[in-house]
Amino acid sequence: MLSLAAHLDLEKGKVIRVMGPASIVINKGKIRILGMNFTPGARVVIHRYRSYAIKALEDSTISVILGEGGGIEEPAAGEEVIDVWEEASRAIIDSKGIAVVLGPVDSGKTSFSLLVANMAIEQGLRPAIVDADVGQGDLAPPGFIAMKILTTPLLWLREVRGDVMRLIGSITPTHAFAMSRLIVAIRDLVDIAMQKGAAPIVVNTDGWTTGYLAIDTKLNIIRAVHADYVAVLDDVLCERIKRALGPLVNVLCLPRPKVVKERDRIDRRLLRKQHYQSFFQKAKRVCLRLSEITLLNSCLASGTLWSLDAVEKLSKELGLKVYAVVEHDDALVVLLEKADSVIGQRLREVFPQKEIYVVTRDSVKGLLAAILNERLEEVAPALIDSLELDRNEICVLTEYDGVVKGLSISRIKLSSEWEEVGKVIKCPL
Ligand SMILES: Nc1ncnc2c1ncn2[C@@H]1O[C@H](COP(=O)(O)OP(=O)(O)OP(=O)(O)O)[C@@H](O)[C@H]1O
Ligand SMILES: [Mg+2]
Repeated sequence: MLSLAAHLDLEKGKVIRVMGPASIVINKGKIRILGMNFTPGARVVIHRYRSYAIKALEDSTISVILGEGGGIEEPAAGEEVIDVWEEASRAIIDSKGIAVVLGPVDSGKTSFSLLVANMAIEQGLRPAIVDADVGQGDLAPPGFIAMKILTTPLLWLREVRGDVMRLIGSITPTHAFAMSRLIVAIRDLVDIAMQKGAAPIVVNTDGWTTGYLAIDTKLNIIRAVHADYVAVLDDVLCERIKRALGPLVNVLCLPRPKVVKERDRIDRRLLRKQHYQSFFQKAKRVCLRLSEITLLNSCLASGTLWSLDAVEKLSKELGLKVYAVVEHDDALVVLLEKADSVIGQRLREVFPQKEIYVVTRDSVKGLLAAILNERLEEVAPALIDSLELDRNEICVLTEYDGVVKGLSISRIKLSSEWEEVGKVIKCPL
């Protein structure tokens, strides 16, 4: 349902807030949104999950068409943050250094990161964004983080894909396995951005900021990238970060927008679903010989392989074909054609001291993974389709059409509807 909301006259210096979905045409003058200037003839589309502050740089006239749920508001005095944000952004840009952006969910982290990038481009620089929000990032599917060097300004980071991505393997940084991977991956992406001559480099983070461990993780990110600036979009969090870091790092305490278009859990789930899907639109099924690739983050690939005799003996005991058994100190991974609860129970009785993971042809279906190149670097997302046990192959869906040297396995499993299913298990493959 679309309705023509208005032709608005905005005096020079005036700020309004537009909540999406909305489409704006500039008829006269000049307006500024997130560090981008728009002049007559330009059209700006605001997605239904976004809202923006619009500032008139000259006496301007704009036409706004609002979709369902969209709106235009006049911020109360002191409510609009954009001028303070621009000032902070200038300090970061002048340093040509590295800035880490922190804040709770919906506090404006991604918008502030883009503001810095857009203003840097305006000054002829080549900024990079390291989008390290592992669950709600824009540059890569959930479970990944990514880096992009921006050469044209943007209003929504989701419009582009990252230049380089890294798989973390879960959609929250709160799992112990994810935290260390996250810090290493961020450091790696910052290094690549530096090697490519990007400046400034803005590290956007996830919204997990409550509790001691969250702050600890963020402080470790700040330290790992040798941040010149930390921008914090929350007063209480900012004081905590400042106190922890002391005078050695510049901490900018910034206000968060008072009114924003918030996304609830359902919206976020939908955004994740669309994002997964968009990375597999042109995917093809590719089968890879397990003996010819490196499998990373796989329990199956990293333990001790049982001898054929031992596997045969277990097959006889269980009365069904076992393809392989891989032993860890604390776990046993058993590869079967098909699983049922009775087999799992039997195995638990026979090996009471180990955790048992049963992997089958179809149990791996929907596991999110990354294609690796010869340097074990992620080059594209992949979705595991099946394990072809008789052929000793693993089949994946991917858009990548280069030579595959390996796969890195996540603990995220997707349904055919691109929704996360099941709980995070330690050894899905
Ligand atoms: N100055 C502003 N005025 C009003 N709304 C704004 C402003 N800046 C950003 N927003 C809106 O606030 C919402 C949250 O912003 P953003 O996505 O940047 O936050 P975030 O902290 O990155 O969120 P998340 O935790 O989901 O990653 C978005 O809808 C964005 O369009
Ligand atoms: Mg964000």
